[in-house]
Amino acid sequence: MPHPALELLLAHRSIRRFTEAPLPDEDVRSAVEAGQQASTSSNVQAYSLIRVRDRQRLERLVELTGGQTKVARCGGFFIVCGDTRRHRLLAERAGVPYATRLEGFLIAAIDATLFAQNLCVAFEGLGYGICYIGGLRNDLASVQKLMAFPRGVYPLFGLCVGVPAEDPDRRPRLESEAVLFEEHYPDDETVLAGIARYDERMLDYYAARGVEGSWSQRIESQFREPYRAALAEYYREQGAVLD
Ligand SMILES: Cc1cc2nc3c(=O)[nH]c(=O)nc-3n(C[C@H](O)[C@H](O)[C@H](O)COP(=O)(O)O)c2cc1C
Repeated sequence: MPHPALELLLAHRSIRRFTEAPLPDEDVRSAVEAGQQASTSSNVQAYSLIRVRDRQRLERLVELTGGQTKVARCGGFFIVCGDTRRHRLLAERAGVPYATRLEGFLIAAIDATLFAQNLCVAFEGLGYGICYIGGLRNDLASVQKLMAFPRGVYPLFGLCVGVPAEDPDRRPRLESEAVLFEEHYPDDETVLAGIARYDERMLDYYAARGVEGSWSQRIESQFREPYRAALAEYYREQGAVLD
């Protein structure tokens, strides 16, 4: 039997259908506190979490995330933000420059993601299901109009949390040998061999769900075209320096 922490992590699968049960504030607070205990670059804690409850706003977010109805039909919907606002306010108050460049944006994105993942694990530990919503980045200019994030706040992704109304299988991952390397990054043949083994395993998974094509083919098509190409412009307008 694995350690309970490993068992919880290994049981993860995204949940896309939730019951109507609301998400109590006490559970949110507990999960947020657990999320906050995640490591954070130099303790700068460059993140914020915004819970959206307003029905109209949630329905608009369904549209903006590409029709993902779960956004408005889950126990709680959140927006995870990289947050440099606090740091900027402190710099302003002290009359010193806020001069960080790409590193400042990266720190915020990394800190927020580590916080979010610990938050999610905490929610899962409490018995809830979760689904990240990258669809939030489909049209950040419109999300901005809706949410009015101040300068220095970078919305990164949404998060649905709630009591699961489905029990999907876990989605297999690359074998650990294909991501864990000793001493140096392996040659391309080794990398491709690991992918071939994964493609083989995923064929059954996809076939059982009526999904066509291999994992390789899905990756090939995913990165064929520039996707969400307006992101740099949006984040720059929010105050990020991306070089
Ligand atoms: C940053 C991020 C954004 C995601 N965005 C979406 C999304 O918009 N809609 C969705 O249904 N799933 C989304 N997912 C869930 C992934 O599709 C899912 O984690 C992945 O396919 C692996 O499946 P699993 O979580 O069930 O193991 C997102 C996951 C991450 C990490």
